[in-house]
Amino acid sequence: MSASKAIQKEKRLEDIPGIGPATAEKLREAGYDDLMSIAVESPKALAEICEIGESTAAKIINAAKELIDIGGFESGEAILERRRNIARLTTGSKALDELIGGGLETQAITEFYGEFGSGKTQIAHQAAVNATLPEERGGLNGEVLMIDTENTFRPERIVQMATALDLNPQETLKKIHVARAFNSAHQMLLVEKANELAREKPIRLLIVDSLTAHFRAEYVGRGTLAERQQALNKHMHELLRFGDVHNAVILCTNQVAAKPDAFFGDPTRPIGGHIVGHTATYRIYLRKSKAGKRIARLVDSPSLPEAECVISVTEEGIRD
Ligand code: GTP
Ligand code: MG
Repeated sequence: MSASKAIQKEKRLEDIPGIGPATAEKLREAGYDDLMSIAVESPKALAEICEIGESTAAKIINAAKELIDIGGFESGEAILERRRNIARLTTGSKALDELIGGGLETQAITEFYGEFGSGKTQIAHQAAVNATLPEERGGLNGEVLMIDTENTFRPERIVQMATALDLNPQETLKKIHVARAFNSAHQMLLVEKANELAREKPIRLLIVDSLTAHFRAEYVGRGTLAERQQALNKHMHELLRFGDVHNAVILCTNQVAAKPDAFFGDPTRPIGGHIVGHTATYRIYLRKSKAGKRIARLVDSPSLPEAECVISVTEEGIRD
């Protein structure tokens, strides 16, 4: 079962006020097995199919609408107000900050992609430490959530990086909350959990390292491509929404296909192709260079020129 179905199944037809077991059974027989299918139905059709009065059908539809999160319209004024709050988080490298317009942007998704060892996880660790810094030091004075799909979070590395910035390593570690994701459905559910945690703590950075590894491993073969892309698309929109609601930076990592991929023949293409590409606001391609140096290239950004810079992965962390 896909994660989206699992989420929808949590709320059952019987949760709608006015629907008892008998009506629920009738609805299911008619093919209405989740709240969404009822919420978008017309009272007339529902009344006919379920042999109930039209006003009862209307009440059921309204109740279903209230139970699901359809989303809605926001005034231009509210959107402007939200965008006024956009903040930037330093990566640790001035050159890289400049490449992406002044640092990692809140209310946006930034994707780092590249081959193994290109520095994606190092950048994620550094961003986690930096997010706890006060604003005047390029931080967001916040806390961090990390969804770790490959078990590559290293608290020892956080201690090193925090110490290099004269931060108390213990205090820094307390502000970084890590969850292992065991499969793609679990990974998607963790974004819901993240929303819960963000109500209690000032979460300003959400990391998904790696965004695509589980999806790639689970959806194998050409026939599963559409399903995989659909799930990935949903996941990315939930991440983006988290960024909007909490004014947080979303940082994702993505591998490139090391050998020609069943879906994408080109070995320098990131996994997830255009689905990830269209939802991520900033995409940065990382490649290895000499002696701890990495080349970062900003790829197809809507508002910034395509350009490159050099960063270093050092003992202290990410630097120029
Ligand atoms: P995959 O997740 O395998 O796709 O790779 P990645 O892009 O996440 O690579 P990662 O960020 O893990 O980079 C690993 C590289 O960072 C190592 O090969 C080292 O060059 C460098 N590195 C990691 N830790 C340290 C450290 O403590 N000191 C220094 N100087 N370099 C480090
Ligand atoms: Mg990694």
